[in-house]
Amino acid sequence: MIDLSPFPRIKLAQLPTPLQPLKRLSALLDGPTIWIKRDDCTGLALGGNKTRKLEFLMGEAQHQQAELIVTFGAVQSNHVRQTVAACAQLGFPCEPILSRSVDFDEDSYRLSGNLFLDQLLGATIHQVNPEDVKVTFRALLDRESRRVYAIPAGGSNATGSLGYVNCAREISAQVDNLGIEIKTLVHATSSAGTQAGLIVGMANETQPIPILGINVYEANAGHMESKVRQLATDVADKVGSAPIPDNLIQLNHEHRGPGYGLPTPAMIEAVTLVAQQEGVLLDPVYSGKAMAALIAMIRAGTWHRDDHVMFLHTGGNPALFAYHSIFQ
Ligand SMILES: Cc1ncc(COP(=O)(O)O)c(C=O)c1O
Repeated sequence: MIDLSPFPRIKLAQLPTPLQPLKRLSALLDGPTIWIKRDDCTGLALGGNKTRKLEFLMGEAQHQQAELIVTFGAVQSNHVRQTVAACAQLGFPCEPILSRSVDFDEDSYRLSGNLFLDQLLGATIHQVNPEDVKVTFRALLDRESRRVYAIPAGGSNATGSLGYVNCAREISAQVDNLGIEIKTLVHATSSAGTQAGLIVGMANETQPIPILGINVYEANAGHMESKVRQLATDVADKVGSAPIPDNLIQLNHEHRGPGYGLPTPAMIEAVTLVAQQEGVLLDPVYSGKAMAALIAMIRAGTWHRDDHVMFLHTGGNPALFAYHSIFQ
């Protein structure tokens, strides 16, 4: 079993998150039992997958005696919202650099959702065009006399991914307790830390669950695959685990649609269906597209009715307010 105790960690998350059956959705689809792992309920300013990563990232920042946290993301980044919240809770100043990288031209996108929460949580926000992110960061480092701890977009480096190594252990314990076998765990993949951490964690479990990442970000499938592979290798090195075989890197590239952060009809159907059948709020950028993939696979007959599958709800629902017009 992987020992995470050597890594600095600050408790931020409400763990374990619930694991619940989506009975009405399973019945409606006449498909396998769908279990939802509620990482939208991790806490920290409306929850999401970043809470687990931030436990280790903020632990490292504190360990390195950081005086200023800088991070990166799109205007509606969930990662930025949760990082800003962690900084507020722990008393760090935070300066996120937000990139206007998504071509979604609505006032709600520019003003509401996560961006509104970043402002409310007290961040000093730099909003720039995508080509200006690096130069803005360099200028910030040049003028800064405080010790800066920079967190990559999505909190996805080997340190942040430890949160999902830990989550694999948590899921395995819950599944053992239920006495069931999960055929596949499906979740949204973008900066790859969630998937890399889960893959490494599961590879060290006695009954590993296959992990299927739904690519919502990269236009190039090969690029996404090498991103997950590289990060899984880094995480395995960090925790002293065996190298990850290629067949554990599983991705589906069919649900990104026209681009990162751009709606698809299948995402709108998935978000609406899960809201109205189960009272669970997904999001338009990540979990909605991942659920659209799961629904499409169930409709295609990928699993039997007596099988069990798991959907990891990675959060993101504050973005619903930024995108409300597409649901009307
Ligand atoms: C709500 C939500 N789900 C999924 C993801 C994807 O996770 P990762 O970036 O670790 O691949 C993100 C972050 O980018 C997210 O904000």
